[in-house]
Amino acid sequence: MTILIFGRNGQLARALKRSLTARSQAYSCYGQVEFDLLTKTQDIAPFIRRNAPSAVINASAFTDVDAAETREADANRLNAKAPGIMAAACNAAKIPFIHISTDYVFDGTKSGLYSPDDKREPLNAYGRSKAAGERAVMAAGGQSVIIRTSWVYDARSKNFFTTMLHLAKTETHLNLVSTQFGRPTYAGHLAEACLAALDHMPPHPQIYHVSNSGPIVSWADFAEAIFERAKLFPDIERVDEAHFPRPAKRPSNSALDISAFERDFHYPLEPWQTGLELAFQDMER
Ligand SMILES: NC(=O)c1ccc[n+]([C@@H]2O[C@H](COP(=O)([O-])OP(=O)(O)OC[C@H]3O[C@@H](n4cnc5c(N)ncnc54)[C@H](OP(=O)(O)O)[C@@H]3O)[C@@H](O)[C@H]2O)c1
Repeated sequence: MTILIFGRNGQLARALKRSLTARSQAYSCYGQVEFDLLTKTQDIAPFIRRNAPSAVINASAFTDVDAAETREADANRLNAKAPGIMAAACNAAKIPFIHISTDYVFDGTKSGLYSPDDKREPLNAYGRSKAAGERAVMAAGGQSVIIRTSWVYDARSKNFFTTMLHLAKTETHLNLVSTQFGRPTYAGHLAEACLAALDHMPPHPQIYHVSNSGPIVSWADFAEAIFERAKLFPDIERVDEAHFPRPAKRPSNSALDISAFERDFHYPLEPWQTGLELAFQDMER
């Protein structure tokens, strides 16, 4: 049976395609060109019914955090309305549904790790839309798992990893934020965790946290690990986030407690250093 993926060229969508291909598992994936979730929202349920997949994974989202500040209606349509409809359609078809959410549903003021049942207090429009998406998926019932993740990157997209490598090759002095903390998530590991969840779906909707394991780091710490592996040595200055004013506020603490996922799915998550090494190997291939 075929797994239906919403998303095609995004970081998670591409990692899912790779993992499913390696498993010889049939899938079909639909990005914005094939199925625009903003304009075809009402067609989502009939589309899922027609395709009769064995499971649905929603790897699509409005992910431009700053743009969401001025396009909140679009962010809500993609991040809240669409996943709610997907979850209801999956429930009606009695098939599992995996939806991805974010550390940005929290305000980042907690000291220590965020657990899945901590209160949502988003700081920005993107976070509000993703929090609304979680509520919609939970309300739809059925075998749904919401995976909240943080700091996702791969070797090819425009993300923190590729941006740092580019900057370290083109600039001699870099300002790096050392006041925001979390754990990076290699897209390949996130994809594998989604597939592990599919193997043991709970009967009712549940929220889990998935990131790479390993020490909590700041963006500056993560950048330094990237530079060390790449043998690039720019002059670094540690700064606070006020140094880079942006339209959307970001949480200072994004560290997620991943222990429930590891326990319930019998799935130890890899340290972020392993994810980083895999990203380098992928880039060098
Ligand atoms: N990136 C992060 O640091 C991060 C952190 C926490 C949580 N997350 C969550 O993780 C999930 C995956 O993120 P990602 O990093 O893989 O995102 P991404 O690389 O930005 O990809 C976004 C995906 O959404 C699809 N999409 C965007 N607009 C669409 C539309 N109008 N109609 C249909 N599809 C549309 C894109 O379609 P195409 O395939 O056509 O390009 C793409 O596949 C998202 O739910 C995101 O909120 C990400």
